[in-house]
Amino acid sequence: MDKFIVKGGNTLSGEVEISAAKNAVLPIIAATILCADKCTIINCPMLLDVYVICDVLKILGAKVIIDAKSSTVNIDTSGINGIESGSNLVRKMRGSFLIMGAMISRFGRFKISLPGGCNIGTRPIDLHLKGFKSLGASVKIDHGYVEASSKKLRGERIYLDYPSVGATENIMMASVMAEGETIIENAAEEPEIGDLAKFLNKMGAKVSGIGTDTLKIIGVKELHGANYRPIYDRIEAGTFMIAAGITKSKFKIRGIDNEHIKPIVAKLTEMGIKIDLDKSQLIIDGTGTLKPIDIKTMPYPGFPTDMQAQMMSLLSVVKGTSVVTETIFENRFMHVTELKRMGANIKIDGRSAVIEGINRFTGAEVKATDLRAGAALVIAALGGEGETEIRDIYHIDRGYVEFEKKLRTLGADIRRMEV
Ligand code: EPZ
Repeated sequence: MDKFIVKGGNTLSGEVEISAAKNAVLPIIAATILCADKCTIINCPMLLDVYVICDVLKILGAKVIIDAKSSTVNIDTSGINGIESGSNLVRKMRGSFLIMGAMISRFGRFKISLPGGCNIGTRPIDLHLKGFKSLGASVKIDHGYVEASSKKLRGERIYLDYPSVGATENIMMASVMAEGETIIENAAEEPEIGDLAKFLNKMGAKVSGIGTDTLKIIGVKELHGANYRPIYDRIEAGTFMIAAGITKSKFKIRGIDNEHIKPIVAKLTEMGIKIDLDKSQLIIDGTGTLKPIDIKTMPYPGFPTDMQAQMMSLLSVVKGTSVVTETIFENRFMHVTELKRMGANIKIDGRSAVIEGINRFTGAEVKATDLRAGAALVIAALGGEGETEIRDIYHIDRGYVEFEKKLRTLGADIRRMEV
């Protein structure tokens, strides 16, 4: 188990390169199951979660070669035979549940342990299962396992009660080789959905409506392998942008898509952060005096829930009163206790947190409670007075490539230590 030691007070400068998106690459790796062929993921982020989902594919019988030096992952799924492996695949990582749609699409049946909840919420899968049933699969849940089977999946019009990212991805993968046409209405519109759809189309699928809330999938006979370079990670980029506000710094961020980070740019600009935006890079200037604002997390193109904790770190050191409302997950305020240990003045009132800005965080011993909360504590510590120790940083390693290395190249005083 590792921890970070951060000495606050340095301003950041220079430039940082953003990695490809965890939440794009996980469903894309799951989608390689759909063809009995070879796929290559280029510029793949070398993250804990990527290693875990590759392990899951190996357990299923795929050959996976990860070349960390060139950030390339070669996957050959011809060896997957569809027999349920018996091991608790999803126990390894709940995101592995994304293989369900691909497995029933290729093999007509699959059984997997039910994904548990996590720190930020119960993470139900009812919309995923409802989608599979609409496509003609019979779904059974018993003894903690879910089994879906169908002789032949048939295209259907499916209305999602909620624009769930995972359910949209799983249903899309289940429908690409179904008989006839599937329409997914009220689909999630996150950029990672579009990236998965583009990868599926490169494999020979017929997905249209990309970037809208209505996806149309015309079933095809079979898919073939493809090479693909996933989109940049808009949440990693947003995390560094907020670090500039907390440390009153100005630096360059390379590897962004100016469309995908629009909601983040809008709110930071509203606070008084200056952003000189190109198509694939930006200069962030957090040196000015910032204003308090209110944030409400919403499905894309609203303000992302994955940026809520980081934004709370920034608002905690902006003079005045700000309100953060979390509408996506029912338990995504665990970072509040940890920020208060660093001197933050935050009061939780149901799904909202009322923040009274303080001058500066003070160093403390804190712990990461989930991936984004951990990142929020690191960037808070960068602007803090004195030394902060952040434990349980395995959460951060799940979603940020070489986080401390990138921060050090910008001039942060952060180091990793064994606990
Ligand atoms: C994806 O999770 C992301 N994870 C999350 O990122 C992200 O926070 C989330 O989308 C929202 O943007 C990956 O892509 C691997 P949802 P997912 O299904 O698919 C409810 C991170 O930090 N819901 O859109 O699980 C659910 O309870 C992680 O990178 C149902 O009710 O998100 C939640 O309240 C955290 N029934 C809401 O929808 C369902 O069947 C959003 O969940 C499915 C979801």
